[in-house]
Amino acid sequence: MVNIKCVRPEGNGRSAEYKVRVEGLKVRSRRHCGTISSMAYDHSRKAGNRGDVWKHSVLMALADVMGGNDRSFRYVECHAGAPIHELSKNGEWRGGAGTIRKTAWDDSPYAAMATGWLASNRYPASWVFVAERLAKRFQHVEIDLFDSDSQVKAQYGAPRNLRIPNNVRWRFRQADGYDEAARLTNADLVFLDPPYSPDAQKDWRRLRDACVTLMSNRTTFAAWYPFYWPTRPEELRDSTTCEAWEVTWARCGPRPSQNLKGCGMLVSPKLAALLPRIHADIRAVATRMNWTMLPRPERGIDRSAACRRVKELQSGLRWAASVVTNGREVP
Ligand SMILES: C[S@@+](CC[C@H](N)C(=O)[O-])C[C@H]1O[C@@H](n2cnc3c(N)ncnc32)[C@H](O)[C@@H]1O
Repeated sequence: MVNIKCVRPEGNGRSAEYKVRVEGLKVRSRRHCGTISSMAYDHSRKAGNRGDVWKHSVLMALADVMGGNDRSFRYVECHAGAPIHELSKNGEWRGGAGTIRKTAWDDSPYAAMATGWLASNRYPASWVFVAERLAKRFQHVEIDLFDSDSQVKAQYGAPRNLRIPNNVRWRFRQADGYDEAARLTNADLVFLDPPYSPDAQKDWRRLRDACVTLMSNRTTFAAWYPFYWPTRPEELRDSTTCEAWEVTWARCGPRPSQNLKGCGMLVSPKLAALLPRIHADIRAVATRMNWTMLPRPERGIDRSAACRRVKELQSGLRWAASVVTNGREVP
């Protein structure tokens, strides 16, 4: 008899591999098995971290200035995640939203909303932040949410008090967000926020393809990306010809490493044109977090030149947050 056992990966559950034992023989599968009920990626551990602070404050700033069709606005998220996250004592939120000091952030809508949620040890999904801002400016707000994970879907069955304004109507559907992005026709803003895990390479590739399609359909979109090393964001920026708003909190070491050095938002041309109206606000977020907003080097230069340029730009900076030594981040 053949005995097949799927073992959840050790550690944080983010590993790309599931081990399958067939009568003592170990076979490694690179594909995520859809029938396994555990999540391939769980955002809860990261909820409210530095990446979320940048992502959510940029989205809120955009929601405050974007125009919609007449009095309504349709927002679409292709990688929605769970609606709400319970925060654990040692979660990554401590180095992100948890560092907000009220006095220095008095005028920040993001800080006001995030600290309100942190008070109840919870942190909401990006669309909840966006909904609150859009609801103040539009009579009707339509929100379409997609996520491929069945456990995420289950959490949309009975979400607990999301504090969503009455003029917002939201719908969740379990679906592949990249495919949905390619099919969209009438969204005012589409946000893509892949997990880059368990298969980062695949997410970078699928994100690039989805963004190229959205560009050719003239759909307004933003996409979040992590910054570990200059080449990936550079390729995304080059293939889409889009602008990126990037922050860094740590220097690149001599070699690529798994320490997150920053993150960015790739923005379609319509959003890029709004930068003058939100620049002061998002720059203030970077400054309060002790981050630096770094311009991506000019387009069309080759990868190694892009790497050199990012390092040059970084070497000219004074780092308040942290430095990287031998690929390890030192606080
Ligand atoms: C970074 S989390 C989203 C976080 C959320 N946007 C926020 O800021 O609160 C990424 C989500 O993408 C989902 N996901 C992964 N691959 C997907 C795909 N191909 N289509 C749709 N969702 C996907 C994961 O289940 C996960 O919930």
